[in-house]
Amino acid sequence: MTTHKLLLLPGDGIGPEVFAEVEKVAAFLGQAGIVRFEMERGLVGGAAYDAHGQSISDADMQLAHEADAVLFGAVGGPKWDSVPYDVRPEAGLLRLRKDLELFANLRPAICYPALADASSLKREIVEDLDIMIVRELTGGVYFGEPKQIIDLGNGQKRGIDTQVYDTYEIERIGRVAFELARKRKNKVTSSEKRNVMKSGVLWNEVMTALHKREFADVQLDHQLADSLGMQLVRWPKQFDVIVTDNLFGDMLSDVASMLTGSLGMLPSASLGETNPKTGKRKAMYEPVHGSAPDIAGKGIANPIAMIGSLGMALRYSFNLASAADMIEKAIAGVLDKGLRTADIKGAATSTVSTVEMGDAIIAELRKGA
Ligand code: IPM
Ligand code: MG
Repeated sequence: MTTHKLLLLPGDGIGPEVFAEVEKVAAFLGQAGIVRFEMERGLVGGAAYDAHGQSISDADMQLAHEADAVLFGAVGGPKWDSVPYDVRPEAGLLRLRKDLELFANLRPAICYPALADASSLKREIVEDLDIMIVRELTGGVYFGEPKQIIDLGNGQKRGIDTQVYDTYEIERIGRVAFELARKRKNKVTSSEKRNVMKSGVLWNEVMTALHKREFADVQLDHQLADSLGMQLVRWPKQFDVIVTDNLFGDMLSDVASMLTGSLGMLPSASLGETNPKTGKRKAMYEPVHGSAPDIAGKGIANPIAMIGSLGMALRYSFNLASAADMIEKAIAGVLDKGLRTADIKGAATSTVSTVEMGDAIIAELRKGA
């Protein structure tokens, strides 16, 4: 059995709470002889700032470079609201994405039938939903320069962010989306705002050309990002794979999360280019939800998105699709049994804690192993 190197970065808020549960799952997989992990632990976000005044240290970045995959919890919280911008908790997450060149962010939105009532939309709209949002993660307005606030000297200031995309960035994220679609329902919806943004005009042109050149067998639609947001809540099942830029992807994936019942349900994978020599790619796995400071420390956070993120690591980094299926089945199993954390309570009469949810998922895994 190969040993895989994992770097664990629990972060802040509910991060460490949901992390404790995913570590139990990782330990179970090890004991069951399914996969062997060699694990290192690091600090990110506010936790790293408190320890060494940075949102992630160079030493931990080095560990991230050496790892086969990084498992990430969540960062941020009111405690760090007034720390300098460059060392704010989110900067650690952005540095990991940028320095590891994790340009492809996969955010699946799956609505388990048992949870259809926890969604704010009607059951028939979300039940059995299975879409994949592919978000560009290392470009666009998140990283474009100039990015600054300048003093205009007349009592006015100017805030500037730059939305910028080069052809190669659009092509490589497009390829990820088309290749995924081929294994799914063979349909890609590309989204931008070409009606107001030059970067959107280019995005649309490059996607269209790439499709024609390499992926003519896949269905490609284009939809303006505002309209896509509307369609996502009107009739989300019309979509299969959605590919979009960094900022639109950030927003649209939060919208999509509510289709599944809760933000606490969504895992994600952030992937780099595959190295042709080793066949390996850099990768980080994290829940879509944040650090949720309002419920941190209460033991009520939902660990499913975090555990699902380990499932994605098994699938996309370690080529262990059957183990990933096991995790997804175990999650569906506990939901079928009616176990609910507070965020997915719906019409349920009682809820379980973070630890109880983790234990119940392990019990399901045990049955399946
Ligand atoms: C996400 C988060 C991050 C983002 C924040 C925490 C910087 O919202 O992963 O969706 O904006 O990308
Ligand atoms: Mg977000």
